[in-house]
Amino acid sequence: DATPTTVTITGAGGQIGYALLFRIAAGDMLGPDRPVRLRLLEIPQGMRAAEGAALELMDGAFPLLSDVEVTDDARTGFDGCNVALLVGARPRTAGMERADLLEANAGIFGPQGAAIAHAAAPDVRVLVVGNPANTNALIASASAPDVPAERFAALTRLDHNRALAQVAGALERPAASIARMTIWGNHSATQFPDVDHAVVDGMPARAALAARLGGKQAALTWLDETFIPRVAKRGAEIIEVRGSSSVGSAAAAAIDHVRDETAGVAWTSAAVVSHGEYGVPEGLICSFPVSSDGTGYRVIEGLEVDARARARIDASVAELVAERDAVAARGLL
Ligand code: NAI
Repeated sequence: DATPTTVTITGAGGQIGYALLFRIAAGDMLGPDRPVRLRLLEIPQGMRAAEGAALELMDGAFPLLSDVEVTDDARTGFDGCNVALLVGARPRTAGMERADLLEANAGIFGPQGAAIAHAAAPDVRVLVVGNPANTNALIASASAPDVPAERFAALTRLDHNRALAQVAGALERPAASIARMTIWGNHSATQFPDVDHAVVDGMPARAALAARLGGKQAALTWLDETFIPRVAKRGAEIIEVRGSSSVGSAAAAAIDHVRDETAGVAWTSAAVVSHGEYGVPEGLICSFPVSSDGTGYRVIEGLEVDARARARIDASVAELVAERDAVAARGLL
């Protein structure tokens, strides 16, 4: 089927947008046989940057790129959209309370959800990258009641990939040798990067870490005191070292998310709607271990969750509940 897939990117004039566009045009997200039409959605202040990126896309002469359109009108931007990457968001500015941040973003993701419901293709899938990603995805989904909630996800693949990288570094093994990593909860500092089910070349990661670090207790100390905070605060570390937030790794993770959902994957992490799995309140957009058969992510069920993991999952889920309640209290859900 040579019908192009329509991919809409919001905030396409921004940093992550710029890193995403060329990889998508090159076929890294949907595969080397799939033509794409790009819809770049911006706000008026971002239009020139997006138009410039569109000129460069033209200059790439990408064989798979059938068409690029730049717009600041949401209905036009989501017209016929099959894959929506919601990247543009309102950043937190000095003195802004969390509730104000949630409200400002509700003003973006609510109307965008409604525009998706109105204009997108019936098979549309939505990935929210812009922060606070989980709650932004919840608001977009709530504003699109006719689109199944399972079609809305928030990105925790960057956290997942960061966790793979940390374990790989500790074991001096390639990241590709590690499977069954899990990020639970919110894409925030409360997230729980979990190696309890992970395997390294088929061996339990906890056992591999114990062998490497000098015993089970040493491995647990490393996990709780080094690994978890390092992964959860990696965004701040990147800002400090690079002088600017994660861009290339964030774009790569968004591409991984969509590619694996579409092509199929045995185990990764994504924030998807809860149906009550693992005791997470129904309707929250929470990061879970997920698999895809090519038709969409589903939560991997039946994993054993010990008391340590339970406490960490509950803490992050409590934050998601508080975010949901804050937007609901302001009448935004
Ligand atoms: P950026 O500031 O470079 O770009 C954001 C772009 O969005 C700007 O061009 C702006 O004009 C546009 N924009 C703002 N409101 C919009 C709207 N209503 N409709 C369309 N476009 C709009 O920011 P950057 O670095 O590209 O990051 C984007 C978002 O991604 C931020 O919210 C950031 O916190 C988040 N992020 C999420 C990660 C994750 O793992 N989930 C990782 C890294 C960043």
